[in-house]
Amino acid sequence: MSPKRTRLAVLFGGRSTEHAISCVSAGSILAAVDRDRYDVVAVGITAEGRWVLAPDDPALLALSGRELPSVKDGQAVALPGDPTAGGLFPLEDGPALLGQVDVVFPVLHGPYGEDGTLQGLFELAGVPYVGSGVLASAAAMDKSVARVLLAAAGIAVTPAVTVRAARWAADRDGVVDDVRALGLPVFVKPARGGSSIGISKVRDLADLPAALEEALRCDPKVLVEAMVVGREVECGILEDADGRPQASVPAEVRVVGDHDFYDFEAKYLDAATELDVPADLPQEVTERLQAVARTAYDALDCEGLARVDFFVGPDGELTVNEVNTMPGFTPTSMFPRMWAASGVDYPELVDRLVQAALRRGTGLR
Ligand SMILES: Nc1ncnc2c1ncn2[C@@H]1O[C@H](COP(=O)(O)OP(=O)(O)O)[C@@H](O)[C@H]1O
Ligand SMILES: [Mg+2]
Repeated sequence: MSPKRTRLAVLFGGRSTEHAISCVSAGSILAAVDRDRYDVVAVGITAEGRWVLAPDDPALLALSGRELPSVKDGQAVALPGDPTAGGLFPLEDGPALLGQVDVVFPVLHGPYGEDGTLQGLFELAGVPYVGSGVLASAAAMDKSVARVLLAAAGIAVTPAVTVRAARWAADRDGVVDDVRALGLPVFVKPARGGSSIGISKVRDLADLPAALEEALRCDPKVLVEAMVVGREVECGILEDADGRPQASVPAEVRVVGDHDFYDFEAKYLDAATELDVPADLPQEVTERLQAVARTAYDALDCEGLARVDFFVGPDGELTVNEVNTMPGFTPTSMFPRMWAASGVDYPELVDRLVQAALRRGTGLR
């Protein structure tokens, strides 16, 4: 007798600037899910935030050429924040229950998806979900908060100043002085961004206002960071069956061609990056990096998975750049590739994440 199939809602798209990347990630998850074990319902969130039933078709979500996929309008659905309601409802056709949901895989990046807001809805609805809870999602999303928690756990982060829109409007000279004290170049980035959107490298203080204004268009809170010189190395964390963080082999991103840093185009659209999976690092550095990645995951109270991104300096010094609680899942994304190189293939990865979510269940933890 076959066991009862689990109803898995794959939720993707969303209101953040990373809408398209989320679609591509979801396409690969839909393609990899074991259909004998999971009954899948694909739910897209449009760029406006409307939840719709989406075609369960990986091909429609693939990256073809330079065109980015998106969630198209469709039958509107809602997940009420009510554990007694029992699942997804059509929004327009009365109160009929469309289907119960056993577990959700929120494959969303950025604000309103990876930042704790959606996780709060799942908590209210009493639906288990893949990945970190409200606190870790919110803390990791906000680079100005994450750095405080990481530093408190003894992890090296780069010096930075946080600039809010109100201060930039009222005290430009003070901001420029603070940034000058960091030393140039600096990286100017939205505090809660992703996919390098809104990020600039500033070599000359004359270029600071334009960079700040670009980042402030994405987020009223911006971080200006001293540049770290080093190789960019990432490490995947996956919860094991006992709930403990396990680290993947690290991998290195090498930006080639005329990109100044790992920007949006280099990430997704150009053949401008080379990925070394695993990274070519001395064994000692690899082990230290894996240990720091696990510490960072615990410091932010992550669950299920995370990708911890580092700079590795010339003498093997480790600086954590950021922790992503829902890393990219596209076919070329680092997270699935690092786990494949660590012996966990894509379908098993998805299964382990869903099983961890089911094990955790609902309620306070
Ligand atoms: N402090 C820094 N020093 C050197 N490079 C940086 C720094 N901050 C960002 N970068 C470059 O910009 C890229 C994107 O920045 P990151 O903070 O990772 O933002 P995102 O969340 O959009 O990925 C990094 O992968 C790196 O190439
Ligand atoms: Mg990054």
